[in-house]
Amino acid sequence: MNLLILCYILSSVTFIVGLKMLSGPATARKGNLVAAAGMALAILGTLFLYRDEEGNGLGNLPWISGAMALGAVIGVVAARKVKMTAMPEMVSMFNGMGGLCAALISVVEFDHFRRHSIVVIEGATGTGTMIPVGPLIIILLGMIIGSVSFTGSMIAWGKLNGKIRDRTFRGQHLLSLLILLAIVAVAVCLLFCFAPSQMGVLFYLVFALALLYGVLFVLPVGGADMPVVISLLNSFTGVAAACGGFLYQNMAMLTGGILVGAAGTLLTILMCRAMNRSLVNVLIGSFGGNQAKIAGGTEQRTVKEVSIPDAAVVMGYAGRVLIVPGYGLAVAQAQHACHELEKLLENRGVEVQYAIHPVAGRMPGHMNVLLAEADVPYEKLLEMERANELFPQTDVVLVLGANDVVNPAAKTDPSSPIYGMPVLEVELAKMVIVNKRSMKPGYAGIENALFFSSKTSMLFGDAKKVLQDLVTALKSI
Ligand code: TAP
Repeated sequence: MNLLILCYILSSVTFIVGLKMLSGPATARKGNLVAAAGMALAILGTLFLYRDEEGNGLGNLPWISGAMALGAVIGVVAARKVKMTAMPEMVSMFNGMGGLCAALISVVEFDHFRRHSIVVIEGATGTGTMIPVGPLIIILLGMIIGSVSFTGSMIAWGKLNGKIRDRTFRGQHLLSLLILLAIVAVAVCLLFCFAPSQMGVLFYLVFALALLYGVLFVLPVGGADMPVVISLLNSFTGVAAACGGFLYQNMAMLTGGILVGAAGTLLTILMCRAMNRSLVNVLIGSFGGNQAKIAGGTEQRTVKEVSIPDAAVVMGYAGRVLIVPGYGLAVAQAQHACHELEKLLENRGVEVQYAIHPVAGRMPGHMNVLLAEADVPYEKLLEMERANELFPQTDVVLVLGANDVVNPAAKTDPSSPIYGMPVLEVELAKMVIVNKRSMKPGYAGIENALFFSSKTSMLFGDAKKVLQDLVTALKSI
């Protein structure tokens, strides 16, 4: 068997094995390395083993190596420097680059196609052209999907780091729909265009429209929904890369693209389900982020506060404590202090577990990654359904920098933007202690009635400082 094909088969296998390993925190790190090793094998195999029909290897090796070295340096520095809370931004930026690569492959291959694949037929009645439509469809699909993914991801990146605000205007969705229809119409014209000179004009018109569509597609999406959109764009990039795999008949590229496409689609569906929203609602809903408004009445309501020593005593003498981590815990980088508190409580015979909401934080699995960093045993993390079963038998719930994921309005207030989203029903426990710095709302921008409940006591302050103080207080009782 051709050695290069063997490399591609091996790397395809590593992608599948790596992806499987990503499904559990214990094996996720290794899974990443396994898939990366497979990708390195595919790249090195292509660089050194590829031969065309005339037996020539790849040209431009110095350029390719230079670009790879530069990309590797940027990737390593960016990944090392990025804060956990800025991870969705980085994923978005990298995904956009993938989409751009896929689109540029199509642009280059279109030129190639025009010069080499169009057959001019001389007939009795004159000359005509024969255009192989199959490869042209693949080139167009790769270009359209890759371009949408590129500009969409760039807008998502700008929105997540606050450089671009949510923008909506009257007729925006209609305009997007019209552009989408125009893309399809011009692409179909291109397929049936028998004048090679006009093909270029039509191709670049579709290119421009697809880039514009990506912008309009993401611009109205609300800040809190960005991860769903990023995951969707991720699947687009995968499909665009798979189109490149078809074009080059490259098995590794095809498998990698299909896996990314399928995984991104599944993640999108799962996130929508976790928020109990349809994808259409996410795409046109404009929910959260910098457009959020404070819902609920404006009447003054009072909250009850608890001191550090009192909070330490109630937790220290409890039978079961459930900790609800949220975005604020990640911002405060308080995961180590949290684990210390958990160990101290356990040493006193208190049963401590964590209730994990699927969209707590700002990216899928955010809380799992955060707590794994502090070596919190994975068995201590409860999924939302299990945690909701346990709340009625829980003495104290300690909410750490979480807000929307414990907001009862999701169940009780049909006018709330988060209505219908499954939430952690912490109010079923005997007592709830909420740690945050102020009464400001969370990502969805809405007030939380939990803070005013008779069962709730607020413990104001930065999560790390509060947890360190709780640890000190607990040691002295
Ligand atoms: P949020 O509702 O955003 O609430 C976080 C809370 O943390 C805030 O109310 C904030 O209040 C507090 N906080 C911030 N810094 C803090 C600090 N240093 N110490 C203590 N508290 C601090 O978070 P959540 O409950 O995790 O919910 C996640 C939200 O983000 C949902 O709306 C979800 O839909 C959305 N979202 C999720 C994802 C994914 S996939 N996970 C991605 C993007 C958006 P103070 O300012 O008063 O301290």
